[in-house]
Amino acid sequence: MFAENQGIKKLLKDTITKNGPISFKDFMEICLYEPTYGYYSQKELPIGKHGDFVTAPHTSRLFGYLLAVQIRQFFQMLPDTHELLLCEFGAGTGFLAKDILEFYKDFHCKIYERIKYLIVEPLPARRDILSKGLQDHKDKLEIVDDFSKVAPFTGVVVANELLDAFPVHLIEKGDSGFLEIFIDLDHEGNLVEKAKDIRNKELKRYVETYLKDLSPGYRTEVNLEMRHWIKDFSSFFKKGFAIFIDYGYPREEYYAPYRNRGTLLGYTGQQVTESFLDFPGLIDITAHVNFSDARDWFEKNGFNIEGFCPQWAFLGGLDIEDTINKAFGRLEPFSPVLATVKSLIFPQGMGETHKVFVVSKAVEKTEEIKGFKMKNDLERLT
Ligand SMILES: C[S@@+](CC[C@H](N)C(=O)[O-])C[C@H]1O[C@@H](n2cnc3c(N)ncnc32)[C@H](O)[C@@H]1O
Repeated sequence: MFAENQGIKKLLKDTITKNGPISFKDFMEICLYEPTYGYYSQKELPIGKHGDFVTAPHTSRLFGYLLAVQIRQFFQMLPDTHELLLCEFGAGTGFLAKDILEFYKDFHCKIYERIKYLIVEPLPARRDILSKGLQDHKDKLEIVDDFSKVAPFTGVVVANELLDAFPVHLIEKGDSGFLEIFIDLDHEGNLVEKAKDIRNKELKRYVETYLKDLSPGYRTEVNLEMRHWIKDFSSFFKKGFAIFIDYGYPREEYYAPYRNRGTLLGYTGQQVTESFLDFPGLIDITAHVNFSDARDWFEKNGFNIEGFCPQWAFLGGLDIEDTINKAFGRLEPFSPVLATVKSLIFPQGMGETHKVFVVSKAVEKTEEIKGFKMKNDLERLT
């Protein structure tokens, strides 16, 4: 199918030979984030219609323009500081940053003058590429490897498809309870799965709390990394709003009996695959987000949960006609540009699969959040 990623293969084999089987979570972390050979360390990140998968910023600049409308309202609700801080996590190729900055530059120059666009990107290779790609806005930009570098943070945070990219624990129900999937080597040195008793106490507690009454053979994931990330994030986030956009479900739907193969998928060349072990480091691996967990964990860490709704409703509330006009002028019926707008909003595209989840801390809201005017499904996140 494609050339092997020898670097990752060797690293995985050496690690397993030395220390024994590794959890699927550690396997996923190495495959995606190993600083030299990991999938996300590639120079040319294969996102976009000629790559492995497409995200909203790669679909249309309208996505960034609309989010900029929401972010502007958040800035207005924050204390009037000279500098307006906007921080993006997991900026990928920098398309969203570029679109938001261009929107302000062209239509709200007072915001553009005061904005500082921070990007948190742990991978050195990505930081390098982001700073080259965003040269036109270099005076507005600061790229750091860790949120602590810009703490205590007051401002707005945005993250598109960040939480789904965290490494997850893979578990499967055996005859007498859930087991954790590890990755081992067979006699010929091939990567193979090995189910083991759950030793990780945090995972064990999670399974006992939420995953009762599922049948043997049920396979799913648990994103404990998201819990750790939220805890860290909270300690550096002082005041403001944070917007997370991702595909996912409330807990009940996530662990529904019919979803007995979980949500874990690999992406390559716009196709999905479950052959994770065959292409280590060469495919994206991702799991849907459990937004009920996100709600619980943000709440425990001192955040207010502002809302949760499908992407179509959120984007639809952001002065959409005016913003489309700003992005493209008059749209011709059946034009390719109109098709990209539809894929952001229509349920057959990202409109229903992708959800928007917003939290805040230490702010007094002076008006209703624009993006939730049409719909707010927060009560579904029990
Ligand atoms: C699926 S990509 C999304 C890229 C981009 N937001 C988009 O929508 O096209 C996930 C991104 O999250 C980044 N990432 C993963 N863990 C991260 C973390 N802990 N902090 C910041 N970025 C992270 C990855 O390096 C990658 O750029």
